[in-house]
Amino acid sequence: MTRVSSFPKGRVAFFVTGNIHKFKEARHVLAEYKVATALLRVKASEIQDDDIENIAKASVRDAVERCRLPIFVEDAGLFIDALNGFPGPYSSYVYRTIGTKGILKLMKEVEKRDAYFHSVIAFCSPKESLRCFHGKVKGKISQEERGNSGFGFDPIFKPSDSPNRTFAEMTTEEKNKFSHRAQALRKFAEWYTSTF
Ligand code: IMP
Repeated sequence: MTRVSSFPKGRVAFFVTGNIHKFKEARHVLAEYKVATALLRVKASEIQDDDIENIAKASVRDAVERCRLPIFVEDAGLFIDALNGFPGPYSSYVYRTIGTKGILKLMKEVEKRDAYFHSVIAFCSPKESLRCFHGKVKGKISQEERGNSGFGFDPIFKPSDSPNRTFAEMTTEEKNKFSHRAQALRKFAEWYTSTF
C-alpha cells in the first residue's frame, strides 16, 4: 500500500480500488500529469446495474461517505459484439465464473470477433459534485490466450491499434497507450489538474 505521507509536495488523487493492476495503470498515467496516486483500500459497495456508469457512481458516493475525502473509482467491462455486448457490466462475475477460457469457448467458430473495453472513472468529494470520465478501446477477441501481464481478459483482447498483440503481451506503459482506462484517466487528469 502506498503511504500518503511519503508523497512529495504536489497533487494527489485518492483511488479506491481492490485491484492492484488498475492502481499500477493509474499511477503511470497520472504521473504524466504530475499527480501522485494514493491507493485507498476501502470496501466500497458495487451495485449490479446494466450501466457501468451507474455502478461507478454508486461506488464513489459510498466511498466518499465513508472516507470524507475527494476520491475516484473506476468501473470497466468487456463488450463483445457477437454476444450482443456480453459480458459488459457483468464482466467481473463472468471472469470469476467462466473466465477467459469460457469466453473463448463461447466464441469458438465465431468469425466476427470485434469487442471493446469501456471504462468509467467517477470522481466525487465531500464538497464537489460527482463527475464521470469515459474511455473506450476497440479491438478483437483473440483465438487463444496469449501473454502473462495485466489481469482479467487482457490475454484474449487485441486492441485495433496494435492488432498483433494482446494486452497481456504488453507492459503497463504499452497498454496505457491504447487502453480504455488510460483514456478515461487522461480526461480525468486534465480536468483534475485544471481544477485543483
Ligand atoms: P471491474 O468491475 O471494473 O473491476 O471490471 C470487471 C471485470 O472486467 C474485471 O474483473 C476484469 O475481468 C475485466 N476488466 C476490466 N478492465 C480490464 C482490463 O483493463 N483488462 C482486462 N480485463 C478487464
